[in-house]
Amino acid sequence: MTQDELKQKVAEAALEYVKGYSILGIGTGSTTRLFIDCLADIKNNIEGTVSSSNASTEQLKKLGIPVLELNDVGTLDVYVDGADEINPNKQLIKGGGAALTREKIIAGASRKFICIADDTKCVDVLGKFPLPVEVIPMARSFVARELVKLGGQPVWRENCVTDNGGQILDVWNLSIVNPPELEQVINNIPGVITVGIFAMRPADIVLVGGADGVRRIG
Ligand code: 5RP
Repeated sequence: MTQDELKQKVAEAALEYVKGYSILGIGTGSTTRLFIDCLADIKNNIEGTVSSSNASTEQLKKLGIPVLELNDVGTLDVYVDGADEINPNKQLIKGGGAALTREKIIAGASRKFICIADDTKCVDVLGKFPLPVEVIPMARSFVARELVKLGGQPVWRENCVTDNGGQILDVWNLSIVNPPELEQVINNIPGVITVGIFAMRPADIVLVGGADGVRRIG
């Protein structure tokens, strides 16, 4: 099976996990894109969604699925999103699609976070995927120097402006053995908007698509 076929399988499997909920949090990325397409089949049961990016918002609206403001809906029952890396504790690296800030906000505002991914995303230790860090533009070089002190090699993702007007540094060569600790350390650097470690609020359930079917963790 190709990676895209695995993503399709896991996107379809996630549908079962959101039936019965009327307001859904929606992530960003190619796996989530497939999940959004699946939502079209049950759209009459969906009162609304809270979207983590302009791209997902546009797709949802095209399908006729309402998009609501997080400020208007309060705590969400469920949030579905992909990931770039997943460790056995359901801690994640996210932000490959530059939507990490709104993704982290919605994950934090949701009772249940369901992560959907193909099995190439599963690792023992986070950090092979370059860690995305969203920064205030004027702080980019300063934050980069601080990240070098932590042992990383930050690379500016040029030509990328996030939905919040931020910029992205992709940090290579970090072996993230203590994800919650590093999440807090990087969060504390002035100028950092969001770090793409999702460990203080990890996923609750991970659905992993592999050649043998969809495996559930959690
Ligand atoms: C976007 C993300 C995505 O969830 C992550 O990059 C995974 O994307 P894909 O489903 O395309 O592999 O964090 O900011």
